[in-house]
Amino acid sequence: MGVLASGRGSNLQALIDAGQKSDFPAEVVLVLSDKKNSYALERASIAGLRHRHLAPKEEGFYLKLGDEIENCEIDLICCAGFMRILPPEFVSRFPGKIINIHPSLLPSFPGLHAQKKALDAGVTVTGCTVHFVDEGVDTGPIILQAAVPVLPHDDEVTLSERILGYEHRIYPLAVRLIAEGSVHCVDGVVQYSGNAHQEGSGFISPVSE
Ligand code: GAR
Repeated sequence: MGVLASGRGSNLQALIDAGQKSDFPAEVVLVLSDKKNSYALERASIAGLRHRHLAPKEEGFYLKLGDEIENCEIDLICCAGFMRILPPEFVSRFPGKIINIHPSLLPSFPGLHAQKKALDAGVTVTGCTVHFVDEGVDTGPIILQAAVPVLPHDDEVTLSERILGYEHRIYPLAVRLIAEGSVHCVDGVVQYSGNAHQEGSGFISPVSE
């Protein structure tokens, strides 16, 4: 995996940790960030992973980003809190190979401040989604979702923390499903093979634990 991150990198860490387990079928080999001082780069450094900051203001930013990824022979690009909309030329360079995590049950509440939008809307259930990336903002075929309750006294911080705990579970799980070949995209909709669909899966759907 190559991971694109802009901030604290807790989802990156979840992917690094998963990849270090002997039975996990993928590992992080490259971390790229558009923010020089992002903690994600620090995490990559601590884990001894190849990492690089690329300045988004420089010409050819997405070209360089793509070249870095190609040079490392990456099979899967994971956006983990990468706060940029990938342009069509980047997305089409890696068809079906880019995934993203978002802190809502998409297609509800795309874009920034998804948790606040959920609170403002008064929903009682929200969650997180891993999806393939297309040219839209937090759109693209949905791979995995976890539903998370909104509790009466939640604020943006408490709700975000609760969702984040599930993000750290479903992102590695989605990568596992893809790496094992259980995920197929048919006419823009994800279908599963193997044991990805199980009855009584509770809050995470589908489940392969
Ligand atoms: C996560 O909550 C992720 O879902 C969100 O940014 C946060 C990054 O946290 N991403 C988006 O909102 C994408 N639209 P992290 O840096 O600790 O992984």
